[in-house]
Amino acid sequence: MPTGIKHYPVALHESPVTAEVMEHLPHPSPTERHRLVEHIKRLLTEQNAVLVAHYYVHEDLQRLAEETGGYVSDSLDMARFGHEHPATTLVVAGVRFMGETAKILNPEKRVLMPTLEAECSLDLDCPAEKFIPFCDAHPDREVVVYSNTSAAVKARADWVVTSSIAVKLVEHLHARGRKILWAPDKHLGNYIQRETGADMLIWDGRCVVHEEFKAAAMREFKQQFPEAGILVHPESPAEVIDMADAVGSTSQLIEAARTLPHRLFIVATDNGIFYKMKQAAPGKEFVVAPSGGTGASCRSCGHCPWMAMNDLPSLARTLETGSNEIQVPEEIRVQALRSTQRMLDFSAQLKRKVLGTGTA
Ligand code: 13P
Ligand code: SF4
Repeated sequence: MPTGIKHYPVALHESPVTAEVMEHLPHPSPTERHRLVEHIKRLLTEQNAVLVAHYYVHEDLQRLAEETGGYVSDSLDMARFGHEHPATTLVVAGVRFMGETAKILNPEKRVLMPTLEAECSLDLDCPAEKFIPFCDAHPDREVVVYSNTSAAVKARADWVVTSSIAVKLVEHLHARGRKILWAPDKHLGNYIQRETGADMLIWDGRCVVHEEFKAAAMREFKQQFPEAGILVHPESPAEVIDMADAVGSTSQLIEAARTLPHRLFIVATDNGIFYKMKQAAPGKEFVVAPSGGTGASCRSCGHCPWMAMNDLPSLARTLETGSNEIQVPEEIRVQALRSTQRMLDFSAQLKRKVLGTGTA
C-alpha cells in the first residue's frame, strides 16, 4: 500500500514574463506575414522538411503545419509523428525538450527549432546533476520521468511518459508491485498518486503557467457562469483539478471539448490550445481560467512564455540559415532512447488494448 507522498525540494527557476516576451517579438504586418508563410512553405519543400507544432504555439504556426502536411498535437504525438514521418528534417515548434525528444528518436534526421531559448520550467527545475544522485539514493524505485525533461534526465530514467499516458503507466507498474520515483512535476505527480494509489516519491518541480491557475478565482467564475464546463491540464494545482469536468493531456482536453455537452468552457491550460479547440468544437466558447486571483497580476496569464518565442520570422530564419539545430551528445542520446522508446511502445500497446487486439 502507498506510504504517502514525499517531496524533494528544489528552487523554482525564474521564468520570463509572457507579455514582455511578446512585446520584444517583431510584429509583421498582414502582408509581411503572408510573404513569410509562402517563403517558409517553399523552404520546407526544398529542404524535405516537415513542421511539427505543439498546440501552445501561435496559431500562425499551427495553421502552417496543417497546410504543409505537418502536424499539430500534444507532446506524445509530436514524438510519434516525427518518428514515423519520412522527412529528413524535422522542424519542431515548441520548447526544447520536444526538439530533444525528436533528436533522441531520430538521430539520422536534422532537427531544427525556431529558437533554442524556449525552455520549460519543469526541465529547468530538474537538473541532471541533482537528479542523478537522487535516483542513485533510491535504487528500489522505478524512475519515471515526464517528457518535459532534458535528454540527460531521460538517460537516467527507466521510463519517459507524457500526461496522456502517465496514469496508465504508473497503474501498470503499481499493479506489478513497483515503487515509483517521479519527476519533475509535483502537481502531475500528486494527481497520478491520487488516481493510482501507487507509492510515489515526487520531485518538487512545477509548470509556471499551470501553477498560476487559482481555485478561488475559478469558483467565482463558475458562480457567474454555472453552465460552464471546466477543462484542466494535470500540471495544475490539486484544488483546480478537483473542480474539473475533464482532466487530461492537451489532446484529451480537446477531445473533451468536442464530446462534453457544455457550450462554454473554462480552460486551465495554455490559451494557444483554443485554435484547435475551436476547430474541434465549432460554435462552443472558451475562456482561459483565471490565473492571478482577483486584482492580482499574472506572469504568464495562461500563455507559456517559452512557447510564445516561436514565431514566423524565427521559423523562416532557422530554415534559411540551418541554425538552431538540436544536438544531443551520442552517449546521452543512446541512454535516453531506451526510456523514450519505451514511452512510444507502451502507448502503442495501450492503443492496441483499446482496439481490443492486445494487452498493456
Ligand atoms: P501535453 O503533453 O499535454 O501536450 O503537455 C505538454 C506541456 O508542456 C503542457 O504544459
Ligand atoms: Fe513547460 Fe509549462 Fe511551458 Fe508546458 S506550459 S512547456 S510545462 S513551462
